[in-house]
Amino acid sequence: MPILFDHQRQIFHLSNSQISYVIGIEKDKFITHRYFGRSLPFYTGSNELQRIDRGFATNPDLSDRTFSLNALPLETSTQGTGDHRIGNYQIRRENGANVTSFSYKSYTISSGKPTLEGLPSLRGEQAETLAILLVDDVQRLEMVLNYTLYKDYPVVTRSVRFLNRGKEKVFIENAGSMLLDLTRTDFDMLTLNGSHTNEATIGRQALHEGIQKIESSRGTSSPQHQPFLALMDSTTNEFQGEVYAFHLIYSGNFTAQVEVEQYGSSRVQLGIQPETFEWCLEPNASFQTPEAVISYSDAGLNGMSQTFHALYQKELIPVQWKDQERPILVNTWEANYFDFHEADLLQQAEVAKDTGIELFVLDDGWFGQRNDDTSSLGDWFENREKLPQGIAGLAEKIQQKGLKFGLWFEPEMISENSRLFESHPDWVLQVPDYPKTEGRRQLVLDLSQTVVQEYLIEMLDSYLSTGKIDYIKWDMNRHLTEVGSFAFPAYQQKEIYHRYVLGLYRVLEVITTKYPNCLFENCSSGGGRFDPGMMYYMAQTWTSDNTDALCRSKIQYGYSLLYPPIMMGAHVSPVPNHQVGRRTSLHTRGLIAMSGNFGYEMALTHLPADEQKEIREQITFYKKHRSLFQFGKFYRLQSADDFFATAWLFTNDEEAIVIYFNGLARPAVPVKYVKTRYLEEQAIFKNTATGTLVSGAELNQAGITIPRIKEDFSTLLFHWKKI
Ligand code: DGJ
Repeated sequence: MPILFDHQRQIFHLSNSQISYVIGIEKDKFITHRYFGRSLPFYTGSNELQRIDRGFATNPDLSDRTFSLNALPLETSTQGTGDHRIGNYQIRRENGANVTSFSYKSYTISSGKPTLEGLPSLRGEQAETLAILLVDDVQRLEMVLNYTLYKDYPVVTRSVRFLNRGKEKVFIENAGSMLLDLTRTDFDMLTLNGSHTNEATIGRQALHEGIQKIESSRGTSSPQHQPFLALMDSTTNEFQGEVYAFHLIYSGNFTAQVEVEQYGSSRVQLGIQPETFEWCLEPNASFQTPEAVISYSDAGLNGMSQTFHALYQKELIPVQWKDQERPILVNTWEANYFDFHEADLLQQAEVAKDTGIELFVLDDGWFGQRNDDTSSLGDWFENREKLPQGIAGLAEKIQQKGLKFGLWFEPEMISENSRLFESHPDWVLQVPDYPKTEGRRQLVLDLSQTVVQEYLIEMLDSYLSTGKIDYIKWDMNRHLTEVGSFAFPAYQQKEIYHRYVLGLYRVLEVITTKYPNCLFENCSSGGGRFDPGMMYYMAQTWTSDNTDALCRSKIQYGYSLLYPPIMMGAHVSPVPNHQVGRRTSLHTRGLIAMSGNFGYEMALTHLPADEQKEIREQITFYKKHRSLFQFGKFYRLQSADDFFATAWLFTNDEEAIVIYFNGLARPAVPVKYVKTRYLEEQAIFKNTATGTLVSGAELNQAGITIPRIKEDFSTLLFHWKKI
C-alpha cells in the first residue's frame, strides 16, 4: 500500500490493489490531478497535460503561453489568479483583497491516519497519509492538503488545514474539503434527496454544462440532501460500471457540486457551504476542514455500497459497537405519543419481555410539563404525575424484568415555555432586534457557547451516571434560524453555523467517550441529520418518521447506497399507518423492519393474541439470523419498478436471505425472476423451506421464480443454508 513520490517527474502515486490516485506538481508550484481509478502497477504520465496557447487564457508564467490555470486539471483551486472555475477555498485579507498565490513547498508521508481536531473522521490503522504543504508567501498562510490511502478499501480521504503564520488576521470565506478535476464530462450524477418522511430518494441526471450542486443551509446536513454525490457512466447500474463517489463527514451546512467546464473536465468539490460560513484566522491559529471520503467502484452501485458499508462499520462508528449485536427494541412514540403513565409502561414492558424484545425505549413526553410539543424542552426533570418514581424508578423496574432501558432526549432544543429559557434567554441562537422564529414551538440552544456545551454535558451526565440508562435516542427536530450568538463579536457571527456543529461534536465526544456502553441512536425527525458525522458518535440512526412498509422499502433502499442495514433504525408500527393510512400485513412490516435495525413501535398490550404470537415468532426468527441481518453483506437485487416491487439479499459465510417486496399486485405481470448474483458460485445451498439443494451459481445466474401474488404489499422471504 504505498504512497510513492517520483522526485524526477514530481508525481505522487497513491495505490493499493484496487485503486490508484495520482497527483502531479507543475512548475514547482501547482498541484494537478493526473489520474483516479482502477489500480495501475506504475504511472508514467501517458495521459500528459495538454499545452495549447488559448484565447482569453491568462498565463502565470510569462515565458509560457501554453500554461494556463484555467485549463489544468487541479487538486485545489487557485484564487484570483486565473482559474475561473468553482473554488475550494477563498481568503480575504484585512485590506479586503481576495487573492492568494499558493506554491508547493514540501510533503510528508506517514503511516496511519491522524485524527482531525474537533471533528469526526475515519479511523485508519491500515492506511498511509500524504500531507502536501502549500504556502502563500505574501500572507504567510499555509494550506495543507491531506490524503489518506487505505490498504484494503478503494478509498482516499481528503481534508485541508490552514495555518496562519503571518502577522495579520485572515478571513476564510470558503473552506472546502476537496476538489478534483476528472478529465471527462460524460457522467451521470447521483444524489440522495428528499424531505421529512421521504428521505433518501435516489436522483440521477446526466451532467450538463455549468454547475450542478446540492447543498444545505439549514444548519444540519438535512433530509433534503445527503452530503454526497457520485459520478458514473450512463450505463452503470447496481451490478456493473464505474462509480466515483464523494461523501462528506459533516453534519452542518454543506455544498456538493460539479462544474462541467469548457475543456472537457468535471470539477468535483465538497465542503462546508460557503454562503453561510466565514472564519477569522488569527495569527498562529489553524483551521481544519471536515473530511471527505472518495471511493471508486468498477462493480456498479452495489460495489460502491459494499465499500461504504464495510468502511463505516469498521472505521467510522464508535469502535466498541462495530462488532456488537444490537438489541431488538420497542419504542413508545407511536404507541403513546405524550400520553402515558408508569403503570401502562410497565405493562407494555411485560408484554415486550414476553415476546422476546430486549430494550424498552421511553420516547418524548417524560419531562417538565411535556404533554404536547409546545413546552418543556430544556426542563430535563421527570414529570412525576406520569412517572411517580422518576426515570430511575422506572428504569429499575424495567431492568428488573430483564429488559434494557432507553430514554429520549432532544438536548439541543429549548422551549420558550420552559424554566431553562426563563433563566437563560441568552443561551438561544438569536440576532439583535429580530424576533426568534420557532419551529415545532421550539428554539435552538446556542451550542457555540462553551457554557451551553458544559450545561448539556452536565445534564446528560446526571442521567447517565446513574448507570440505569442503556440507550439514548438523541433527537433534533427543527432547522436553524437567526443564527447568531451573544458570545461572539460582530465580525465572528458568520462562524456560528460551524461553531454550532463543533459545539455539538464536543458534547457528543465527551458524553459518548465517558459512556461507551450506552448505545446512542441519532435522530432528527428521522433522517434529518443522517450523515457520517453523526455516525462517528452514534452507531445507529432512526431512518425516517415514516414507518409505512411501502415507503420504508424505498427509503431504506436509498440509504443503503451508503449505510448498511445495521445503521438504519426500522420499526414495526401500527396499522392503519400513522403517516399514510396504509394497511400492510404484520408479516410485511416485520420483514421490512428486519431489513434495518429491527424494533417495534406500537402498543403491544392492545394487540390480539394471534398478532402477539406472530411478533414472538418474528423475534425468534430474527434472533436466529441476527448475525446475518446485522453483520452480513447486503446487496440490492432489484430497484423498485413502476409497481414498487423490489428485492435485496443478505449473505454471510453460512446462509443467505432474499427479501422480495411485491408492491402492488397485478393480474397479468411478466414472470419475475430474482437472481442472487453475489452468492459463492461453487457452494451448495439448501432451501430451508423446501429442502431443495441448489448451487450458488444457479441462484446467481438462473435465479428464483417469484410466484404470482394476489395481495398488495406482500413480502416473500427465501432462506438458504450453505452446506
Ligand atoms: C421525532 C422523532 O423522529 C420521533 O421518532 C419522535 O421521537 C418524536 N420526534 C418525538 O417528539
